Parts: sequence; structure tokens; C-alpha cells
Amino acid sequence: MMRTTQYFITFFVQFFLINSSDIVPLDVGVHLFVDEQYIENMTSLEFQNGHIEKDLDHPLVYPEYPWEAAVHFYNSFLQVPSNLSTTGAPMYMIYYACVDSSAIIYNDNVSVCVANSSDGIHWEKPLFWYYPYTANGTKPAQATNIVFTTNVNEFLGTVFIDTRPGTTRSEIFKMSYENEFVRYVYVATSEDGFRWKAGIKPAHPLAGLSDTQTAMFYSSENGGQYVLYGRADWFVRNSSVYCPGANPAFRRVMVTTSSGDIYGPWTIPMEAFALGVPDPVQCFDNYNPAALYYYGVYFIFPSGYWHWPVNDSGAPIPLAAANDGVMDIRLAISRTALGPYRFPTRDPFISRGIGTIDPKTKLVNGTGSDRDAGFVFASSNGLMDPDFIRSDVGTPSAWMYHIYWGSQTTHAGGGTVLGRYWPGAYSGIFRARLRREGYVALSTLVSEPTGFGEFISQILSLPVKKNGQQLLLHINAEIATAGGLAVQFEDGLTRNPIPGFTFDECKTLHGNGIRQLLEWKTRNGTYSGDLNPLIDYPNGLRVHLQMTHTKLYSWLLSYV
Ligand SMILES: *[C@@H]1O[C@H](CO)[C@@H](O)[C@H](O)[C@H]1NC(C)=O
Ligand SMILES: *[C@@H]1O[C@H](CO)[C@@H](O)[C@H](O)[C@H]1NC(C)=O
Ligand SMILES: *[C@@H]1O[C@H](CO)[C@@H](O)[C@H](O)[C@H]1NC(C)=O
Ligand SMILES: *[C@@H]1O[C@H](CO)[C@@H](O)[C@H](O)[C@H]1NC(C)=O
Ligand SMILES: *[C@@H]1O[C@H](CO)[C@@H](O)[C@H](O)[C@H]1NC(C)=O
Ligand SMILES: *[C@@H]1O[C@H](CO)[C@@H](O)[C@H](O)[C@H]1NC(C)=O
Ligand SMILES: *[C@@H]1O[C@H](CO)[C@@H](O)[C@H](O)[C@H]1NC(C)=O
Ligand SMILES: *[C@@H]1O[C@H](CO)[C@@H](O)[C@H](O)[C@H]1NC(C)=O
Ligand SMILES: *[C@@H]1O[C@H](CO)[C@@H](O)[C@H](O)[C@H]1NC(C)=O
Repeated sequence: MMRTTQYFITFFVQFFLINSSDIVPLDVGVHLFVDEQYIENMTSLEFQNGHIEKDLDHPLVYPEYPWEAAVHFYNSFLQVPSNLSTTGAPMYMIYYACVDSSAIIYNDNVSVCVANSSDGIHWEKPLFWYYPYTANGTKPAQATNIVFTTNVNEFLGTVFIDTRPGTTRSEIFKMSYENEFVRYVYVATSEDGFRWKAGIKPAHPLAGLSDTQTAMFYSSENGGQYVLYGRADWFVRNSSVYCPGANPAFRRVMVTTSSGDIYGPWTIPMEAFALGVPDPVQCFDNYNPAALYYYGVYFIFPSGYWHWPVNDSGAPIPLAAANDGVMDIRLAISRTALGPYRFPTRDPFISRGIGTIDPKTKLVNGTGSDRDAGFVFASSNGLMDPDFIRSDVGTPSAWMYHIYWGSQTTHAGGGTVLGRYWPGAYSGIFRARLRREGYVALSTLVSEPTGFGEFISQILSLPVKKNGQQLLLHINAEIATAGGLAVQFEDGLTRNPIPGFTFDECKTLHGNGIRQLLEWKTRNGTYSGDLNPLIDYPNGLRVHLQMTHTKLYSWLLSYV
């Protein structure tokens, strides 16, 4: 009787605790520490924005030709693989809204200019005859780097390469843009990123979704889907009722997906993250929904917009003065396209430069080289990976870059950058350097004097065995000299350390590196990182990670 009960209880417990659906498979590849995915509980750790360094002395794009006297803030970045590139080599491209100094965006069409580069450092503005420039309508026509035009007060959204299976070569480059007076999202197509064909009808049925730059790409979630980020304001319209003199501030980032083609059917647009508390409710909203899909994580880089009262604006026309203010770039993430998106922290990811407000012009003039003191705006798909253009497949480079636009001027009704408003004010598109996989860190706490923190994973299983190959775990972490990082594998059910993979046997890491190998002491005294003995571990595994004075960015599981 006794034995039967015990057997029954054991069976019962095991049945519920290690039901195979409770075991989360850990696949090979890079996993980012941007949220609690894989983590069951953690102590004295927090998620932080990664560290990013601006380089304002070396703008990638700035006004050089009369038709781009204004390098406007709507901009999109693209990495073109060699098989799709006009040069036969991998290419980086930047698309940006541009107008000449006589243009008023409320009255004139807006152009899309392009710049390209083979190294990310030297940028070229190729000149075409697609949209020649005729100064004052009378001067001789000039070739330009204009590749598309959008209508009055309407702008480009995002250029992306469409990886949906079956996409024809002639439409493989796609560009979302605003069109028609009510601001529908349209999608233009191209076979090389330079010669564009306009869309024929709204891609999404919702008018107004396109007010503010749209972000768009194709992701692998749900068997493949288009993801479209826009803006809508039909919910709570009172977020700026006490913001004297300014236009209402109720701009919510919206997201919608289509598992069909670019014309839908689209899901009902969802608010990507809630506007308001803990952010200021009055006079503050979220602007640019610049997005990025990276290692299965959806990132958005919304610019938080602080609306100024009319009287604080130096903009010379009332329409612009009523919609003026400053912005900096934040970062929010989700594992699913429709969110909800969470801010690891509400601190800026890319802050404005150090500046002072000129009492007359109201320009937030940069001090020194702070050319981006007025407002900053992330590029859509803004990740520039130096490895994208490398032909060798050695160690990945330690750094990557995020592309963003910055200016001394303020928003001013979106007309901000027009030379006619504020001649001489600086604006340009810059690159800022961050660590590989470094958008978000899982960090030990400054407030914890020992600097110690730890987490225990959910019950995980390792990928299937590959005969004759070692399965290794590398860590991308910044470990202080006074710090350390070690990993112990534990039985998924009993939580007991698994002999051979305990903290005692782990060779503690002390480095700052993007691919630091974890190893454990073997019986004969040598170290091995091979995880093969843990594959198909019957109860599943828990990863117990302890670290001191450390920022952890990612782990990489790979067969070698
Ligand atoms: C281009 O090359 C990439 C790999 O870099 C591949 O995934 C893609 O299918 C290729 N596209 C075409 C149109 O050949
Ligand atoms: C804008 O472009 C359209 C063609 O796309 C043209 O019909 C219209 O006249 C242009 N508007 C201005 C103000 O140039
Ligand atoms: C930029 O694109 C043009 C047009 O395809 C091409 O001729 C030029 O070589 C490219 N330049 C770079 C640096 O990639
Ligand atoms: C256009 O004409 C105006 C005067 O009508 C002149 O001031 C301006 O310099 C001209 N612009 C260009 C680019 O030629
Ligand atoms: C809008 O007003 C309603 C009613 O006064 C209030 O409950 C709500 O919190 C307000 N929302 C914002 C974003 O201010
Ligand atoms: C702005 O300033 C003008 C003149 O200084 C004043 O008449 C007006 O009431 C002010 N408006 C607001 C909204 O403060
Ligand atoms: C701000 O910049 C403008 C234009 O560059 C210049 O005229 C003005 O003197 C500057 N003001 C300050 C306070 O630096
Ligand atoms: C995680 O939770 C378990 C069970 O409550 C506890 O024993 C363990 O100490 C916790 N670990 C961490 C790192 O918080
Ligand atoms: C020590 O043991 C490991 C496996 O535990 C083995 O791979 C390695 O070859 C051994 N080294 C020596 C020097 O015997």
C-alpha cells in the first residue's frame, strides 16, 4: 500500500513537472538577454539599455546639393546582399526625405534621396536622371540622387527587402510611404532599390495610420508575416489638454500584421505600448515607430516628444509653432510583433546632444560638436552590422552601429529642417557605435555593493546531437576586473547540480568579450566546454548563472 502510494505520488509529480511541453527547447544560435525569456527567477539583476557612443564629427549624410538643402528626419537604412546589389558586392543604403530650400512641406511634394556605401564610412550620393532638379524652374536640369517623390506633406516610411517566399525579383525591394490626403500607407516596389514603381492602392485600409514615418518589414513569426508600424490617435485625445497652446499630443505607436500579401488581410492595429503613466501624461507623446527585427526580437525606437507651448517656439509660422518641441530616442522590445512592447528602462537610448536654447531662434544649439541637440530620430531598420560586408567568416566584429538622424533644430511642425526657417542650423544622419548584440544588457545592480546577481532558467532542453561535434556555450558579457561569471547546470526536476557542470567545476570568466567560452573541469583536470553529456537529459536542465559586476548581452549555443 505504502509503496503504491509513493509510486503514485512520484509518478504524479513527475508527470506534472516534466511534462515535455514544460521543457523549453534551446536552439543553436544567438539568444539576446532583453527580457525574461528562458528565465524563471532572478535576483539582483535588471535590464538596462545598452551603451551607445555617438560620432557627431563624421556624419554619413548632410545637405550638400540644393535639392536636399533639408535632410529631413524621416530616414530608413538598408543592408543589401551582393546578389541583390547593383555593384555585385554587399551595399549599405540610406533613404531620406529631402527638399530644397524654397520648399514648404505643407505645399510642396517631398523627395526621397538616397546615399550608398560599400564600407559604412564613405558614402556616395549617386546621381540619376529619374527626377532632375531645375532650380527655380528655369535653370538647366541637373541629375540628382532623388529616386522617388511623395505628395505634399507626405513622406517615405521604410525600405526593406521582402523575404516572403515567392516574391518576384522585380518587387523584392519595398518602400512604405504616406499617400493621399488622408494619409494611407502605400507600398512602392523596386528590383534594385534605385528605380521605384509607386503603389497602386492603399496597402492598409486604415486612413491616418501613416501619419509619422511608417516602419515595415517581413518577419518569420507565424510562418511568415508583414509587420507594419504606424500611428493612430483615435483613443484618448486628452493627453495634452493642459499643454498650453500646443496641438494635442496623443500619438500612439500602432502595429498590425498581415500573413497574406502587402494588401492584407491585416490584423486590427494594436497599441504597441500604452501612452501615459509612468511617462508624463500632459504634453508628451510617442512619435517615430522606427523598428528593427533582430534575432527574433522586435525592437522599436520611438522618439519621445515633449511638446512646447506655442510661445516657446521660434518657428516663424503659426502652424509650425503649434507643433514644436524636442525629442530623444528610446527603445522598447517584444517577442511578438503585436506586443505589448516593454521599455527595459525609460531612459533615452540615444539622447540629444548637450545644448542651450537660443532665446530668439529657440534653436537648441549644440555646444562643441553636439550637432544633434535639438532632436534625434532613429533610422528605420537602423542596424548597420560591419560583418554584413565582410567576406571572411572569422570571429564576429565586436562592434555594430545604429543609424539615426539628429539636428540643432526642434520639430516645428515637421518643417523644422527647412533652410528657409533656420539657415545655418546643422542636421545630418549619423552612426552611433554599440557592442555586438548590445541593445539591452542584463546587468548586476549598482545599488548592490557586492555586485552579485544570479538567475535560474526555466527547464530547458539542448538541441539534438550532431555526431562528432562539440556543443559549446559562449557568453557575450562585459565582466569587470573585480567581477566574474559562472554557470552551473542543474537537474530540471530535482534542481540538484549536475556533476561535471557545477559552479565548483566551472572556470569562472573574468573578461570583456563577445564570445567567451564556458568550460568545466573534467575528471583528468583539463577543461572542456562540450555539453554533449547534457543532451537529452531526462528531467530537462536548468541553467543557473551567477555573475558579479557584469553586463550580460547574449549567449551563443553552437556546434563546432
Ligand atoms: C540572396 O542571398 C541570400 C543570402 O545572402 C539568400 O538568402 C537569398 O535567397 C538570395 N536571394 C536571391 C533573390 O537570390
Ligand atoms: C506633386 O506631384 C504630383 C504627381 O505625383 C503632381 O500631380 C502635383 O502637381 C505635385 N504637386 C506639387 C505642389 O508640386
Ligand atoms: C552606389 O550605387 C550606384 C548606383 O547603383 C553605383 O553605381 C555605385 O557604385 C554605388 N556606390 C557604392 C559606394 O556602393
Ligand atoms: C531663385 O530665384 C530667387 C529670386 O527669384 C533667387 O534669390 C534664388 O537665388 C534663386 N535660386 C536658385 C537656386 O537659383
Ligand atoms: C483622459 O481623461 C479621462 C477622464 O478625465 C481620464 O480618466 C484619463 O486618465 C485621461 N487620460 C489621459 C491620457 O490623460
Ligand atoms: C503668447 O505670447 C503673447 C504675447 O507675448 C500673449 O499675448 C499670448 O497670450 C501668449 N500665448 C500663450 C498661449 O501663452
Ligand atoms: C544658435 O545657432 C544659430 C544658427 O547657427 C546662431 O545664429 C546663434 O547665434 C546660436 N545661438 C547660440 C546661443 O549659440
Ligand atoms: C529561484 O526560486 C527557487 C524556488 O523558489 C529558489 O530556491 C531559488 O533560490 C531562486 N533563485 C534565484 C536566483 O532567485
Ligand atoms: C580529459 O578528459 C576529457 C573528457 O572528459 C577528454 O576529452 C580529454 O581528451 C582528456 N584529456 C586528457 C589529457 O586525457
